[in-house]
Amino acid sequence: MPKRPIDLRSDTVTQPTAAMKRAMMDAPLGDDVLGDDPTVQALEERCAVLLGKQAAVFVPSGSMANQLAIRSLTEPGDEIIGEQGSHFFQYEAGAFAALSGCSVSLIAGDRGMFDASDVLANIRPADQHFPVTKLVVVENTHNAGGGTVWPVTRVESVAAAARSADLRLHLDGARLMNASVASGAAPADYARFFDTVSMCFSKGLGAPVGSIVAGGEQVIHRARRFRKMLGGAMRQSGLLAAAALYALDHHVDRLADDHANARLLADGIAQLPRLTVDPDVVETNIVYFDIDEQWGTSEALCDRLESRNVLMLPAGPGRVRAVTHLDVTSEQVAEAIDVLATIV
Ligand SMILES: Cc1ncc(COP(=O)(O)O)c(C=O)c1O
Repeated sequence: MPKRPIDLRSDTVTQPTAAMKRAMMDAPLGDDVLGDDPTVQALEERCAVLLGKQAAVFVPSGSMANQLAIRSLTEPGDEIIGEQGSHFFQYEAGAFAALSGCSVSLIAGDRGMFDASDVLANIRPADQHFPVTKLVVVENTHNAGGGTVWPVTRVESVAAAARSADLRLHLDGARLMNASVASGAAPADYARFFDTVSMCFSKGLGAPVGSIVAGGEQVIHRARRFRKMLGGAMRQSGLLAAAALYALDHHVDRLADDHANARLLADGIAQLPRLTVDPDVVETNIVYFDIDEQWGTSEALCDRLESRNVLMLPAGPGRVRAVTHLDVTSEQVAEAIDVLATIV
């Protein structure tokens, strides 16, 4: 059998462990659209408590979680304030416009983060010519920003500015558990500033499928309706919710290992010629590094890596992304650094 590659393209590539699969197989199931899948109900109740909200709804993906939150908190013609590298804006096929009819006012952030003054500067005057500024979206950790962890105090000041103008807030917490493990702040310490919070089980937490949206009763009632409208209401989805519950029980604390491995990788890359990375900005499991353009493109580097059984993702002409996760050991990270060294 060919050797499995060292796959650093994303934390979404993890395979469910044998124990996770057993938990899935053993889960009691029902029909969640009819409201009687006990495992989905257990997951939704657990996430509501974890995030300090009244209710939560289980959905197939992080993109759907974000878009249900946006659709539930806005009306067509509203405007969203968001950071320019945000997932909801860059990587969800324009759904904020197509499904919610919203425009976006973009902030050029600092590794994905921004300040209260940025929010205030992007609010439209109340005048019939303009869209209605309605929602602020924060992403924590910020993927394109490099797995950046927002300090709770910075979130608090952004939220205070938004509330002073009567705006709503959504947290794209696809990797909120990474932020929580890295900062020591509880997930609810972040979530308390937001009307809705999304979180993914299919990234660092290692489940095969699924995300959650949590919020107040009314907004989650609305999100549930939009989930149905978009075809995201599932039947015996307790099978998937069981994997998410298992991940919450067993895969949260170990995120610290992924963070240590990412730092190891960045420290190794920093020693290599023709590659540039600042290890000090690697706070969680995502590493971006730049290639000297004299050497070649990120595609060329990733092709060479692939031929040596190491997978990374081109993230721009001279930029590569590597993400650590459950299926990558510190020995494999060391091996990936050795392979990179022989290539550059
Ligand atoms: C910050 C962030 N939000 C949302 C998503 C979307 O998740 P999914 O791929 O499950 O739609 C991702 C995916 O990488 C992400 O990084």
